[in-house]
Amino acid sequence: MNILFIASECSPFVKTGGLADVIGSVPKALEQLDHTIKILLPAYPDVSGWAQHGDVLLELEDLFGGPARVISVRAKGLNLLLLEAPHLYDRKGTIYLDEEGFDWEDNPIRFGALSLIGAKIGLDGIGGWKPDVVHAHDWQAGLVPVYMKQSGREAPPSVMTIHNIAFQGLFDGSVVQTLGLSGDMFNPDGFEYWGHAGFLKGGLAFADKITTVSPTYAQELLTPEFGMGLEGLLKSRKSDLVGILNGIDLSVWDPQEDPSLTKTYSAKSLKRKAANREWLEQQYGLASNPDAPLFGIVSRLTTQKGVDLLMEVIPTIVERGARLLVLGTGEKRLEEACLNAAQNAPDNIAVKIGYSEDLAHKIQGGADAILVPSRFEPCGLTQLYALRYGTIPVVAHTGGLADTVIDANAAALATKCATGIQFAPTTVEALDLAIHRTCDLFSETKKWKAMMRRAMSQEVGWNQSAELYADLYKSLI
Ligand code: ADP
Ligand code: GLC
Repeated sequence: MNILFIASECSPFVKTGGLADVIGSVPKALEQLDHTIKILLPAYPDVSGWAQHGDVLLELEDLFGGPARVISVRAKGLNLLLLEAPHLYDRKGTIYLDEEGFDWEDNPIRFGALSLIGAKIGLDGIGGWKPDVVHAHDWQAGLVPVYMKQSGREAPPSVMTIHNIAFQGLFDGSVVQTLGLSGDMFNPDGFEYWGHAGFLKGGLAFADKITTVSPTYAQELLTPEFGMGLEGLLKSRKSDLVGILNGIDLSVWDPQEDPSLTKTYSAKSLKRKAANREWLEQQYGLASNPDAPLFGIVSRLTTQKGVDLLMEVIPTIVERGARLLVLGTGEKRLEEACLNAAQNAPDNIAVKIGYSEDLAHKIQGGADAILVPSRFEPCGLTQLYALRYGTIPVVAHTGGLADTVIDANAAALATKCATGIQFAPTTVEALDLAIHRTCDLFSETKKWKAMMRRAMSQEVGWNQSAELYADLYKSLI
């Protein structure tokens, strides 16, 4: 089958979070199942170099204020359809934010344009290639099913995936006119949300199927606590909603081959992992202590990720002689709280504010445990990387974290199936207890090592989930 993906990020070309990792890896697994995936992606500055090697398949004189082209290129094992529209995408700052850190004011136009071209390719095909299914990801592609519906033409079936319902793409109602959207669908049953235009809501209202990135999150989304105002719509579409767990790219995240590591290792050579921890300790001035774990965090520093809770348990980390290395960027107050914690306890806490793919790999390889204290987590990828690296995930029991980690409770330890530590609810008290449990277990070296090996043997690739996507596509045609 031919599948058209529409997304705003794709690893290794452009990434702000897990969405990019998914868009850059699931197509490879689907290709193994003999499907052809093409990814429509804006040609941001980081991506546009690839366009020079491609073929121009579509040219438009005007796409909301400037010319645009779609260029097809095979790069890094992926089929990209790059949407080149310099007036929308060729700018400094990040892909969503300007240089001051504010959302680009014309984001509705930038991603409305992406959706419009996605719908056009869905309806007309491109360069002789026609998609059998159109698969839109997150709010940036939410208007694809809306534009297809609005055309009144026969359209291929569509799938809308929610990677994080906290980001809905809500904009002033005036964008309806700017984006040439039909007023007929701008109502509560369509893409209107309390007078605003809701891009994700439009996708959820008009796509044939809705997926999200873990079975537990699919259930959680139906509740007011997690549905963020869209639970009613999702409940009404419950029979079309399915949770398919994310996988990871096993070739990119492989402790046996990882070029970022001081020493590569496998489940059979766990001793070698220690060299990676030593490197981190030395580089970040952390005290070395073989009796307590080194915790790592690689995350957006936000309240979603529970970074505020983490700040409250720093005394426990210090008291236990454990260490914590944080890599992340995000809310200024949380960045500052992390930096303060490091200043107050430099032997135990180190913080690197910034974004570094290389350091993310080094932390996965060198830490003993990875902390993910999220308040909600649609899937989460860092705990999957951690499993693969034998770095014990210590996670909140929510969303995909609940689906991918088996808590080391007495039963799981006795039956030898534990792969990490889970805590619930996501509170300071529960997290504090989880830190203590982790430190206790760490000192039971035999049990800990067995858990590391078990973690490393978990299925975290795309095999199973790619089959589920393929089945879903088949069910639609
Ligand atoms: P989310 O998409 O909600 O941020 P995920 O766990 O799904 O959470 O994915 C986060 C991805 O972003 C992972 O690949 C993680 O390694 C990466 N990441 C997050 N922060 C950083 C950072 N500061 N430096 C490097 N990689 C990061
Ligand atoms: C979102 C979610 C995260 C998920 C990722 C990829 O960013 O917050 O949990 O893993 O998308 O689906």
